Amino acid sequence: MTQDEMKKAVAEAALEYVVPGEIVGVGTGSTANFFIDALATIKSKIKGAVASSEATAERLRGHGIEVLNLNSVSNMSIYVDGADESNNQLHLIKGGGGALTREKIVAAVSDKFICIADESKLVDVMGDFPLPVEVIPMAQSYVAREIIKQIGGQPVLREGFTTDNGNVILDVRNLKIMEPTVIEQKLNNIVGVVTNGLFALRPADVLLLGTPNGVKKIS
Ligand code: A5P
Repeated sequence: MTQDEMKKAVAEAALEYVVPGEIVGVGTGSTANFFIDALATIKSKIKGAVASSEATAERLRGHGIEVLNLNSVSNMSIYVDGADESNNQLHLIKGGGGALTREKIVAAVSDKFICIADESKLVDVMGDFPLPVEVIPMAQSYVAREIIKQIGGQPVLREGFTTDNGNVILDVRNLKIMEPTVIEQKLNNIVGVVTNGLFALRPADVLLLGTPNGVKKIS
């Protein structure tokens, strides 16, 4: 089974969590794209979707799925998205695609976060994948210095990339994230940080993991 086949399998398995007649929160990335394609097969059963990025909104619309403004939605039963890394407690690193802020917002509004990923994303200790931090452009150097001082690692500017919110991303390399909730809070408290890619204070509720032997559920 290829990695793409595993991503497709978990994306299709996530359809089981979609509540008929409701709005679905939709993430960003290659695995989320498989979910959007799967969601299109049951589009007449849902009220619409809230997108976590412009790219996702475009793909949803391309399938004829209505994209709603989050400000017109008071709650959603589920949010479905991929991850760059997950530990066994379903703490995640996200933001490899740069959509971390909108992803965190849509996840916050949703009752249940269904994370879909291939088995390569499950790790014992997160940090091999560089941790994305979205930063207001004028604060980039200050935030980089504070990150080194407060949590260590090596912040590197993602060259030539601007988020959907007009900000820059620092990818923090060489971390061993032993206490994800503590690191998430420390980063949130640095002035100039918009969001960081740790989803630990609000982890996933269910992780559907694609393996060569089928979809494994961790919750
Ligand atoms: C987008 O900003 C990310 O959070 C993605 O959800 C995450 O990087 C997973 O992407 P893939 O499904 O492409 O691996």
